[in-house]
Amino acid sequence: MINLSNFSSIFIANWKLNGNIQFIDKYYENLLVNPKNCTVVCSPNIYLNRLKNNNINLFTGAQDVSQFNEGAYTGEISANMLSDEKINFCLVGHSERRQLFNESNEVINAKTSNLINNDIIPVICIGETLEEKETNLTKKVLAKQINESIPDGCNFENSIIAYEPIWAIGTGLTPSLDEIEEVHSFIKSINLKFERFKVLYGGSVKVSNSKDINKLDNVDGCLIGGSSLKIDEFNLIIS
Ligand code: 13P
Repeated sequence: MINLSNFSSIFIANWKLNGNIQFIDKYYENLLVNPKNCTVVCSPNIYLNRLKNNNINLFTGAQDVSQFNEGAYTGEISANMLSDEKINFCLVGHSERRQLFNESNEVINAKTSNLINNDIIPVICIGETLEEKETNLTKKVLAKQINESIPDGCNFENSIIAYEPIWAIGTGLTPSLDEIEEVHSFIKSINLKFERFKVLYGGSVKVSNSKDINKLDNVDGCLIGGSSLKIDEFNLIIS
């Protein structure tokens, strides 16, 4: 199992439904990994084996996994299959999956357990909508997501939490630095068990804001969408 405490920060590229073979070749020709940090690239499943993994500070990640382990579930990929293919990380409960594919906390909990059982590090995504933020429900929503979607087997050594406010994803909007710090410190204080968890921030992370976000005490890295598709920008963010 990867020792997450070896790294000062963890940066995860979430390509979403983007990329092709040419893009991947070019990406890795130009990727400049910072040895102090952990860099993870999450591509669509079909390309996972084309990604580079040095097993030191550069790893591969899936964007989703089945809640089932085997059986008649056409189109699904199990945690065991990801493990067979030496995939080290997997996003779970991304807001796009929660919103577009109706994933509940219960399903996310099952997926997370399957990953843990296969020694794959789940990156459990949580976040509030704009309406929830504006009605002061952020902490309540996050606490519910955490309590219901993170199984007992998760700990700071085998799991990561990513805070991605839904209204900040792909919009160019971000919470203020104070707000990010407050939410991250809240997440770590929900239960003693979460105190040592790595908590990443995601949502419109760019070259222009990544340094300030990463300097925050309770931010342990970033989950990056759009800017991870531009290798020059991603290099600057992870440097
Ligand atoms: P953007 O960085 O494009 O806002 O996306 C964030 C995200 O959803 C990463 O998982």
